[in-house]
Amino acid sequence: MYLDNEDEKMLAGEYGETRAKMMEILVALGKVFGAEELVPITSAQISGASYKTIGKWGLEWLRNLDASVAVPAVLNPIGMPRDRWQEMGIDPEFAGNQEDVIKAYRKLGIKLECTCTPYYLNKTSYGEHLAWSESSAVVYANSVIGARTNREGGPSALAAAIVGKTPSYGLHIVKNRMPEVAIQVEKGDGRHADHYGAIGYLAGKEIGNRIPLYTDIRPNRDSLKALGAAMAASGAVALFHVQGITPEARIRETFRGNTSTMETITIEQSAIDDLFESMDVDAVALGCPHCSPDELSRLAELLKGKKVTKPFYIFAARGVIESESRTVAAIEASGAKVYADTCMVVSPGLDRFDSIMVNSGKALAYVPNMCGAEARLGTTEECVEVATS
Ligand code: F3S
Repeated sequence: MYLDNEDEKMLAGEYGETRAKMMEILVALGKVFGAEELVPITSAQISGASYKTIGKWGLEWLRNLDASVAVPAVLNPIGMPRDRWQEMGIDPEFAGNQEDVIKAYRKLGIKLECTCTPYYLNKTSYGEHLAWSESSAVVYANSVIGARTNREGGPSALAAAIVGKTPSYGLHIVKNRMPEVAIQVEKGDGRHADHYGAIGYLAGKEIGNRIPLYTDIRPNRDSLKALGAAMAASGAVALFHVQGITPEARIRETFRGNTSTMETITIEQSAIDDLFESMDVDAVALGCPHCSPDELSRLAELLKGKKVTKPFYIFAARGVIESESRTVAAIEASGAKVYADTCMVVSPGLDRFDSIMVNSGKALAYVPNMCGAEARLGTTEECVEVATS
């Protein structure tokens, strides 16, 4: 892999031990994946921020790093809301360790925006090269924005943030971004908006890490977010296209003639309906991925004049919560909690429940393993109904 003079100096340790280690990580990755060069990135999003997922060895590794990031970088959700962790029932020992993780990242110059939806806070544009690591953020950046990032691990995203570059392979290269499998959805465009998480959940299981092209749906931005997050969780999808909707499918004419030669998978209506099974639950959790301003507004509307009868958690980026403070106040008037910085999966705060209702295909895939709870899928309306009935 070609390295310029500055890269070589960094690798040789002229800019300190941490930068040399980070460059070593990138060079090793580049060799494994056959990259010919490093490409400059405009931002990084770093997972491995919750103490629940990185534990004491991850914290130890972070504490030993001594450098500053070269590009704007944010964190994935951490294990608790920074200012309301007691209220969420977080153990003080966990909170102390989580604080130490935050301090270690702050020392590296990383912004303490802890979210899987950094695109609501910082402008990210078509064609930009990124090093993002949370899978729903990656698939949104690639598919909905048309930016370019591989599914980075926490350490490789951090290495890229410190070096300011990432190895150019995989989805950084245009020819690797073409669709590989066509997906038809029974009932096509006639779907309820909240069914896109279920569609993604089913599609991800079939396609693994291939790049799908949807031919007959017209999701809005929030539905695209739900669709991609679910495919990234039940499969390993990092990029998808929707004919006539997502930017690369609109730009590249070639996509249109392509579908006849591709394998076609049909997502059947009965399979979608089967995921929306009825079940009693202990709690309801929404905001996976973190809620958009529109999703918060819809919740405020649905909760108007109601009181929650079971724990109801809603997660969103701190910047979104702050800019939508009136909407958030209206939601919390019902007794629901809107928390920043964390989520139902990476926080230990929901581990005490045996069953959790969600409106997200990604949460449906992750809650059983990460929280040890059964997960029930519902539409947003159904979730509000269950939380307030
Ligand atoms: Fe985001 Fe947590 Fe879901 S990181 S995508 S809210 S599992």
